[in-house]
Parts: sequence; C-alpha cells; structure tokens
Amino acid sequence: MIVLKELTKRYDRVLAVDRLSLRLEAGEIFGFIGPNGAGKTTTIRMLGGVLKPTAGAIEIGGVSLLERPVEAKRMIGFIPDRPYLYEKLTGMEFMTFTADLYGVDGDVEGKAMGLLERFDLLNRRHELIEAYSHGMRQRLIIAAALLHDPAAIVVDEPMVGLDPTAVKMVKDIFRDLARRGKTIFMSTHTLSVAEDICDRIGIIHGGSLIALGTVGDLRRSAGVGEGDLEEVFMRLTEEETR
Ligand SMILES: Nc1ncnc2c1ncn2[C@@H]1O[C@H](COP(=O)(O)OP(=O)(O)O)[C@@H](O)[C@H]1O
Ligand SMILES: [Mg+2]
Repeated sequence: MIVLKELTKRYDRVLAVDRLSLRLEAGEIFGFIGPNGAGKTTTIRMLGGVLKPTAGAIEIGGVSLLERPVEAKRMIGFIPDRPYLYEKLTGMEFMTFTADLYGVDGDVEGKAMGLLERFDLLNRRHELIEAYSHGMRQRLIIAAALLHDPAAIVVDEPMVGLDPTAVKMVKDIFRDLARRGKTIFMSTHTLSVAEDICDRIGIIHGGSLIALGTVGDLRRSAGVGEGDLEEVFMRLTEEETR
C-alpha cells in the first residue's frame, strides 16, 4: 500500500533521511520510532506530499506521489505533528471546511456526523474548537483526515501531550482503522504505544533505518530476550552511535 524506495532528503548541511526503503501492506500499523532529530518528521512530511524528496520514490496504492501527486494524495490522510485548527470554528464547521478543502463530494454532512459520532464528538459538535481539550482536538483532526476516505493514514507523533484515557482512545481508533483495511504509518517516541499496536516497527537513527520488524524480531536482533522495546531501542541506537 505504501512503498518507499531509497527515499532521501538533504537539507543544506544535514542528511535528514538517507535512502529509506520500506513496503507496508494494507491494514498494517507501522510504527516509526527514533530519537529526536532522527528524520521521522521529515519522512512523514514527504509521505504527506508537503516536502519534496531530494531523491527516491514514494508510491501510494501503486501511484507515484511525485509523478501523480493529486491522485496519490487522495489516498492519504495526513496528520502533521502540529496540526492547525481554527479556534473560532465549531467542530462541525471544521469538518465541513476540511471537506470543502479536499473536495469531498456526496453527503458531506452525513459523513461528518458519522465520523464525529465514531470519535465521540457528536454532542460537542456545535462548540468552538477553543473549548476543546487536547484529546478532543486530536480526535477531531483524525476525523477530519478521514473525510475523503483515504486508504492510508500518515500521522506524526499522535500521542504527544495526551493523557492515558485519550491515548487509549487514539490507539483504539487506529486499531479499528487497521481492521477496516487502512494502512497506518505512525511516528512516535512513545515506545509502549508502538509495542501495543504496531504490527511492525522501524527504528530510524541519523536518517537511516537501523532495524525493521515485529517487536519479537527486534528483541532477537538486539539480543535482549525478555527485554521490552525500550531496552531494544537503547541497545540498537547505542550500537549505532558507538
Ligand atoms: N527545515 C529544515 N532545515 C534544516 N534542517 C532540518 C529541517 N527540518 C529538519 N531538519 C534536520 O533534519 C534532521 C531530522 O529532523 P526531523 O525529521 O524533524 O526529526 P524527528 O522528527 O525524528 O525528530 C534533524 O537533524 C533536523 O535538525
Ligand atoms: Mg518529529
């Protein structure tokens, strides 16, 4: 569903992402983890079609994002790390505004209501976003990103600042989306979240993918029998730095 081939991004001096290759299947939840500055946001912004790669290719559902951006982007719901919400709109207004932006056709109001209900925002839909909690905002952003019914969700650090209840809600949302066949590419530095919900995990360090696999695979390759993901992560990123 999502294919990255030798994806590379160089800023003036920094090689932020270095020949990253990956292939994600439909219905897969992929967790992209790594320390600060590893290249997660840069990768996700390229996937979202808002940052141009220096080299390499991205395919979404077999369509090249660089050659056919409009068609490819239609299959992605992109959620940046600091999404912009209009404080003076209500939740419902934000949904219809986003639907207009993406050219969602058909029964926009019905789709918006359905998503708001699914994410437990229906009874708050006429309140201004400025009155929403961080968790409600995050759910609204995810709901809005689903309006055009994308096949893949690309989301940067969705759990930052959320309390445990909100984290659980977002985890359940992602699990439910994956059950419906959506592919989820999620960056996080919350290792327990990755361990809980991701089918596979990729560890990026200094722009390079240094490990890829299930939590079990990663444990074995780091040689930490019973260790949790945190230990694997420390072990692998330390080895790289040495
Ligand atoms: N716009 C930019 N200009 C120059 N360097 C950047 C820019 N954005 C990110 N970088 C650098 O690229 C590297 C990767 O950053 P980023 O993708 O934000 O990492 P992460 O999301 O994993 O914390 C870092 O060294 C960062 O300083
Ligand atoms: Mg980041």
